[in-house]
Order: sequence, then structure tokens, then C-alpha cells
Amino acid sequence: MIKFVCNDYNEMSSLASEIIAGQIVGKPDTVLGLATGGTPIGTYMELIKKRLDFSKIAIFNIGEYYPISNSNTQSNRFQLFDSFINKINAKRENVHTLNGEAADPNSECENFDKKISHMGGLDMVVLGIGLNGHIGFNEPAERLILSCHLGDLTARTIEEHAKFFDADETVPHKSMTMGMGTIFAANRIVLLANGANKADAVSQKFSGVITTTCPATLLNLHHDVTIIMDKAAASKI
Ligand code: PGA
Repeated sequence: MIKFVCNDYNEMSSLASEIIAGQIVGKPDTVLGLATGGTPIGTYMELIKKRLDFSKIAIFNIGEYYPISNSNTQSNRFQLFDSFINKINAKRENVHTLNGEAADPNSECENFDKKISHMGGLDMVVLGIGLNGHIGFNEPAERLILSCHLGDLTARTIEEHAKFFDADETVPHKSMTMGMGTIFAANRIVLLANGANKADAVSQKFSGVITTTCPATLLNLHHDVTIIMDKAAASKI
């Protein structure tokens, strides 16, 4: 594992964008798994500024609330397009998101995994970390699921994500997420964490213990993980 501790969010975003840009320049048909949420927004802004060629890049968004309307500005699909895809030259047909309106979420998840397999798996996946150590929407649990699946969000995640939704809206209680197996099969993993509120989850990741109750700890077994943090997130390591 390679670990970087940056002074602040901007430095973290800039470094992450350099690493992702290196991947894209080195392999112009890279298959990327991308997180949404607050953490990677700055990284995406930096990548946009680089004016790289994304025309051959395939992108898979790693999760989606369920159910949620595709036009809901809090859907991961909307967020990914708004913060990144609409500002680069990726081809629409190469961008794959989970449909929060799918009538059959299980087959939606199955098709998502088939598309990733068809592409030969992910070259690189860019992840944030939840306050509870979740990765994508793989929530702490006794058992983690390898493939893309519909699952329950924990009360903590629902409470944490309430800030993104309007007061009169209910946070969806379920989500579809790329499974830990697919994430783990990626050639390279880039994990980003910023802010003091992530310090406990980050310190658990570095505790030397692997447990499904903190899915991020499983990444300690992967052969190519780069974790980029700001000082605040790294303050309890
Ligand atoms: P955040 O979410 O980037 O909005 O903090 C991270 C996560 O929940 O995985």
C-alpha cells in the first residue's frame, strides 16, 4: 500500500488527479470505477482542468440509492454527470451507472456486473470511505457480498446522507452497489479520505485488523492500493 498524507483537501485532490491522469495517459482505454459523494469532487475538478482524452475510457459508477429518480439531483448518477462526465469528452455509451428506477434491481445489478466482466474488469477504481468504513455502499456487516447487489443502508449512513437531501425528502433506505469482489478485482485502487470526521474510519483501516465490520480494512489485502488523505483524516493513524 502506498500512503500519502497531504496538507489539505486541495492537495489531496491534486495528487489524486495526477495519479488518475497517469493511468489514463498510460492506458487510453482504461476501465474506471468511480465513486460519487463529496470526497472526489475536487479530484474530478482537477482532472477536468487537465483536458485529457476520455474518448476511449469506460466509466462505471460504483453505487446508487434505491429507489431514486434519475432526475433527483442527489442520485449518484446525477452527481457523477454533473460533477464530471458532462465536463469531459467521455462517450455517453461508455458511461455506466446503476438505474435507481429499475423495476428489477437484482437484474440491474446482474447486468452491471456482466458489463464490467465484458470489459475485462476494472483497471482502476477510485473510492471514498464512509464514516463507518463502508466502501461504495458495502456497509459493515457479518458477511460482505462479492457481486453487485441491492442492500440495506445502515442507520448511520442514512443519517449521514440526510444532509444531502431536502428536508421534505426521505433518504432511500437501500442502495445498489458494486460488490467487494469486483472492487477487489480492480488492478489498482485509489482510496481518498479527507476531514477529521473520517479519522476514526481511517485509523481502523490502518489498525492491522481485517474485519467485515469495517469493509475498508479488506483493502489491506489488495496488491495495489494508494491511499491519499489530508492531515485531518490521517490524524489518528
Ligand atoms: P463522502 O462519502 O465522500 O460524501 O464523504 C464517502 C462515502 O460515504 O463513501
